[in-house]
Amino acid sequence: MIDEIPLCRPSIGEDEIQAIADVFRSGWLAHGEYNHKFEALFAKTIGVPHAIAMNSCTSALEVALKVAGIKGEVIVPSMTWVATANVVKTAGGTPVFCEVDPATRNVTAATIAACLTPRTEAVIVVHFGGQPCAMDDIVMLCNSKNLFLVEDSAETLGATWQGRQAGSFAVGCFSFFPTKNITTGEGGMLTCTDEAFQRKARMMISHGVSSTTFARERKERPWIRAAEMAGHNFRMPNPLAALGLSQLKKLADLNARRNKIADRYRASLVSLPLKLPEIAAGATHVYQMFTIEVDEAVRNPALHALRADNIGASVHFDPPVHLQPAYTADGWGEGDLPETEGLARRLITLPMYPDMSEGDVERVGTSLARALSTR
Ligand SMILES: Cc1ncc(COP(=O)(O)O)c(C=O)c1O
Repeated sequence: MIDEIPLCRPSIGEDEIQAIADVFRSGWLAHGEYNHKFEALFAKTIGVPHAIAMNSCTSALEVALKVAGIKGEVIVPSMTWVATANVVKTAGGTPVFCEVDPATRNVTAATIAACLTPRTEAVIVVHFGGQPCAMDDIVMLCNSKNLFLVEDSAETLGATWQGRQAGSFAVGCFSFFPTKNITTGEGGMLTCTDEAFQRKARMMISHGVSSTTFARERKERPWIRAAEMAGHNFRMPNPLAALGLSQLKKLADLNARRNKIADRYRASLVSLPLKLPEIAAGATHVYQMFTIEVDEAVRNPALHALRADNIGASVHFDPPVHLQPAYTADGWGEGDLPETEGLARRLITLPMYPDMSEGDVERVGTSLARALSTR
């Protein structure tokens, strides 16, 4: 059996192993000193004043909506992981699914505007697979309609729109799941600019208590713990924050390697009957995924052929969220979002991770060429 080329693989080196080992030796395993270090570097990287480490991006998204008190309609894409819509429901609101631009798979001001109703309270945009949405028009639309805006940047850490980091235009939510640009195993980050918002978000992820254990230990009366609201425990543990900090220091290099692999893919696939990913003018891409589009009739056979060659190709996202049982139960159905549904039938996600070799890319290209030529 030839070696597997997985869909993704985290880049964990000796630095990360050492960072975690040091925290284990310190004995401080709950949220702690490394949360502050990770948050400080993250905020600097994104170019915002506040970053709050959490146990997942899903938690960050839910906290964003809850802090803003969103209970009405929230416009979200269906071309995303189900978490983007789930959090609307778990926060007490109603998701309204909008279309994406098939070229970038991102929502636009126009696709959002088409879904506005008098009940719309918020918008969650998703920066799909490593490429930011066209944020200036979206920010303008949301400001003009007084809508709360969240950027689901789970798949896009380090990419820019008009020179500004994804996640810095509104409240940003990031994921550190192992398929993402950096990983902590499970983990997430919320970024924001507003001081009051960050204070409430910190309370909400920490039982509704306004100071963390770490800070309390250094005060005069460390036994005082007054909850000001009914909160969650969504905190990131110290060892994972140390892992995250170590990974974040390598972000620029990891993303540069992803870009190099994307260039190799483009060179290797250019003559095949498929559509390569498009980068919008004004955007940079960090290729959390490398997604191609093929004819609908050949998509599933091509996936089977790639997998038979031990290549972990997949699809993001099929079915799109509005066609999943949790949402068809609300009345959503086939035909509601033709662009999204078409993409879901044509997309293939190819393996992409910083340690992918030139030979791996070549093997994927050869397998795909065979799969598409035998049709
Ligand atoms: C667009 C998007 N939103 C949210 C999430 C959820 O992230 P997490 O697994 O950190 O909760 C993911 C991750 O799969 C995602 O891709």
